[in-house]
Amino acid sequence: MKAVIFDLDGVITDTAEYHFQAWGSLAAALGIPFDREFNEQLKGISRTESLDKILARGNLSEAYTDEDKQELATRKNAEYQRLISAVTPSDVLPGIKSLLTELHDAGIGIALASASKNAAFILDRLELTRYFDSVVDVTAIRHGKPDPEIFLTGAANLGVQPADCVGIEDAQAGIQAIKGAGMFAVGVGTPSQMQGADIVVASTAELSLSMLEEHFCEFTK
Ligand code: G6P
Ligand code: MG
Repeated sequence: MKAVIFDLDGVITDTAEYHFQAWGSLAAALGIPFDREFNEQLKGISRTESLDKILARGNLSEAYTDEDKQELATRKNAEYQRLISAVTPSDVLPGIKSLLTELHDAGIGIALASASKNAAFILDRLELTRYFDSVVDVTAIRHGKPDPEIFLTGAANLGVQPADCVGIEDAQAGIQAIKGAGMFAVGVGTPSQMQGADIVVASTAELSLSMLEEHFCEFTK
């Protein structure tokens, strides 16, 4: 195991909840049904793709011009940014800070593979930026998750082979992206949400360097 590539929202901090709330407010304003089960499909995918899925659910795909859609996505992002402006280092999920410290001390590469254009801001708010050897520039990624491009770019930025990497995700699209990249996939959530993951943890509190190395070695044996 030479590198660990992290998703952000729902893995490092619980901003997945804020995406859910911000999309929920917009959906309610548009009269579109919205719930946690449907929200699972939005995890890991871009802002515009998320909006398209929500509008399709309300049979409103044709009801808005591209300009209107742009405005709706901006409205969601404004609400999301209002919510994340209050993020502090105490919002780092359990086990993550100690895992980052262990990885750093062991000389294992650390990269961020988030689809969010707000990722750098959130890492700064959490005071975790210094742990990351690479934060993949999502604006340079052509194919979003479930395509493996973002994880492959993270590995390339670190100068390691994908087969030597572990990816950690809370989204179905993210697990597919990790496996498509040929990496070991750790899912955070329930086994039914994390289909295809090599191991699933219910909480980030279960993650540690020794735990990851043990499972990774078992997998590559
Ligand atoms: C992550 C989240 C998604 C979000 C996407 C884009 O992948 O899991 O829920 O839609 O980032 O985030 P942004 O902050 O750019 O709207
Ligand atoms: Mg996520």
